[in-house]
Amino acid sequence: MSTYRHYHDAARQQPERFWREQAEKLDWFRFPQTILAKDGNGIDRWFVDGELNLCHMALDHHIEAGRGGDTALIYDSPVTGQKARYSYLSLRNEVAKVAGMLAGLGVGKGDRVVIYMPMIPEAAMAMLACARLGAVHSVVFGGFAAHELAVRIEDAEPRVLLTASCGIEVNKVIPYKPLVDKAVMDSRWKPEQVVVLQRPQCEAVLAEERDLDWQALLARAEPHPCVPVPATDPLYILYTSGTTGKPKGVVRDTGGYAVALHFSMAAVFDLKPGEVMFTASDVGWVVGHSYIVYGPLIRGCTSILYEGKPVKTPDPGAFWRLCDEYGVSVLFSAPTAFRAIKKEDPAGEGVRRYPMARLRHIYMAGERLDPPTLEWVMTHTGRPVTDNWWQTETGWPIAANPIGLEPHAIKPGSATLPVPGFNVEVLDEAGQPVPANTQGFIALREPLPPGCLTTIWRNHDRYRAGYLSTFPGYYVSGDGGYLDEDGYLFVMGRVDDVINVAGHRLSTGEMEEVLAGHPAVAECAVVGVQDELKGQQPLGLVVLKDGVNTPPGQIVEELIALVRERIGPLACFKTALVVGRLPKTRSGKILRRIIRQMADGEPWALPSTIEDPASLEDIARVLQERG
Ligand code: COA
Ligand code: AMP
Repeated sequence: MSTYRHYHDAARQQPERFWREQAEKLDWFRFPQTILAKDGNGIDRWFVDGELNLCHMALDHHIEAGRGGDTALIYDSPVTGQKARYSYLSLRNEVAKVAGMLAGLGVGKGDRVVIYMPMIPEAAMAMLACARLGAVHSVVFGGFAAHELAVRIEDAEPRVLLTASCGIEVNKVIPYKPLVDKAVMDSRWKPEQVVVLQRPQCEAVLAEERDLDWQALLARAEPHPCVPVPATDPLYILYTSGTTGKPKGVVRDTGGYAVALHFSMAAVFDLKPGEVMFTASDVGWVVGHSYIVYGPLIRGCTSILYEGKPVKTPDPGAFWRLCDEYGVSVLFSAPTAFRAIKKEDPAGEGVRRYPMARLRHIYMAGERLDPPTLEWVMTHTGRPVTDNWWQTETGWPIAANPIGLEPHAIKPGSATLPVPGFNVEVLDEAGQPVPANTQGFIALREPLPPGCLTTIWRNHDRYRAGYLSTFPGYYVSGDGGYLDEDGYLFVMGRVDDVINVAGHRLSTGEMEEVLAGHPAVAECAVVGVQDELKGQQPLGLVVLKDGVNTPPGQIVEELIALVRERIGPLACFKTALVVGRLPKTRSGKILRRIIRQMADGEPWALPSTIEDPASLEDIARVLQERG
C-alpha cells in the first residue's frame, strides 16, 4: 500500500489512535488520556483532558532542546528598508515581555485581545504573548475599515486592543490610530486600553484616556512564564465572511490546532526543523496564523515575516530575492500574488536573477489555482507547485499534494488529494455521495480532524445551522466540485454568496447591505465577476428609488466610496451600474447567478421561474454599454 494511502486509511479507520500518535510528538504539560469526545454541544473535541501552552511549544520547547540560537523569525520589510533576525531565544524573551505587558494591563486566561497591526514582528509577538497567557487573540487585517474593526470589537469584547501607529502600503502610509479611534467610538464595547506601537513613518497622537504607548509599557514589563491551558481552550477567534453582513468568529482550540499544524508541516509542507518557510500572506488571515506564526515555529523552522507586496516593493523579483537571500525551502502564497508577478514580468526575468538553491516547493492557496498560473510558475522556477484547498474554518489544508508523505502527480485544476484526517465526499442535494467526476457539494464526514473550528464565537447555532445541519454527519464546506476517478479533488468555487478577491474572502451580502443603506437605492445585487489579476471582482447592480434626481454617475461614486469606508479598500468595489430592475424569480429571489454569467460573457439560460424576462434585456444593455 502507498504511504499516503496508509496514512489516509489509518486516520479514517482509527482516528483516535492516529491522532494520539501525532500528539505524542509534542511537548505537553499533561498528555491527554481522552483523545476524542463530544462536548456539551455535541461537537467532537480533541485531546479534551490534555494541558499545554502553545507559546511553550512554539518557543520555549526549542530553547529547552538546545536550539535557542536557531533563527525563529526573519523580518524583511522593503517598504521601510528594515531587516531583522530573531533567534528562538530572543523571540521568546521579547514575547515573554509582551505577555508581561499584557498581564500588567489585567489580561489573563480567556480574556480577548484584538490585534490590528501591520506585518511587523510585534504582531507575531502579540499573538504569541496572548497564547503565553492563555488569552484569546483576534487579529483583524489592516485593510479592513473602521466599521469592520468595530463589528469585531463588539463581538469579541476585548479587554485590550493592540495596534501600531501606521501600516505601510506601496508608496503610502496608512495611519491606523484614527481608524482605531473611530472603531472604538462606534462599537458598543470599549476596550479598557488601546496600546499603540509608534512607528517613525507616522506617529500617532495618544489623546484618549485609554491610550498607552507600547514601548513605554514594555520597558517596565516583567517577562511572563507560560500559563498551562486545557487543550480545548480557545487560542483565537478569527473573523471570516459569511453570507450575511455579520462576520463569523471562527473559534480555534489550542491542543488540536497544535497537533494538526505540526502534522501538516511535515506531511503537507515537507519541512524539517531548521528549514526556512516563507509564507507571503498577512497575519490577519488564517494562512498567516497557521503558516507564518504557529506552524513553522511549532516545527522549529525559520519563518519569514514579509512587509511588502509581490510587485512594486520594489519589483516583481521580490519573492525570488527573499527565497534566495534566506535559503527558503518552501514558498507559500496566493495565486493572485503570482498572477501579479507574471503580469509585470511575463518572461520571468526576475526569477532568473536568483538561483534560490534551497527552494524545493511552491505552495498556493486561498483561491482556485488557475492552470495558466500554475504552468507559468512551474516553467519559470522549475519547482513543483502544490495547490492546497482549505478555509479559515479548518485552519489547515483539507486537500493538497501530500509531498511529505508521498509526492503525487500534479493535475492542473486540482488541489490533489484529501489530506489524512479529512474525509472528503461530494454530495448531491439529497446528501447522497455522487459518482466520480460528478459535481456536487464538497462535504467532510465527521469527525473533523484536530485543528478545525469548534464553534462560532458566542453563536453556536450559527455553526450548527451554517455547516452541520444541511447533511447530518457532515460538515459542508460551502464549496462545490468533484472527485475524479483517482480521488483527486477539483474545487470549482463557492455555492453561496461568498466571493474571493485577490485571495481575500468577502461577502456579497455584506456589500449589498452597504449599498442598500444609501438613501437613493431601492434594491441592489452584488456578484463576483471574473478578473484576470484578482480572480474575482465585485460588481454591483442598483435600482434607484423613484423620484431620485441625483445624477446616476454621482450616486455610483458615492456607493463606491461607501463600500470603501464601511468594509475597506480590500473589497476592491470599483464598479456599480444603475439598472431599471433586477431579474427575479416569481417568489422574489434575485437571479444573481444569471447576472454573473452575463457579466462574465458565459452562456446562460432563461429560467422558467423568471418573473419578468425583460429585466435581463435591461441588464444586457447596461453591461454592453459598460463594455
Ligand atoms: N492595510 C491597509 N490597506 C491595505 C492593506 C493593509 N494591510 N492591504 C491592502 N490594502 C489596500 C491597498 O492599498 C489597496 O488600496 P487602494 O484601493 O487605495 O489601492 C486595496 O487595499 C486593495 O489591495 P490589494 O487587493 O492588495 O490590491 P493591490 O492592487 O494593491 O495588489 C496584489 C494586488 C495581487 C499584489 C495583492 O492583492 C496581493 O499581494 N495579494 C496576495 C494575497 C494574499 O496574500 N492573500 C492572503 C491569503 S493567502
Ligand atoms: P478563507 O477562509 O479566506 O481561507 O477562504 C476559503 C475559501 O477560499 C474556500 O472556501 C474556497 O472557496 C477558496 N479557496 C481556498 N483555497 C482554494 C483552492 N486551493 N482552490 C480553490 N478554492 C480555494
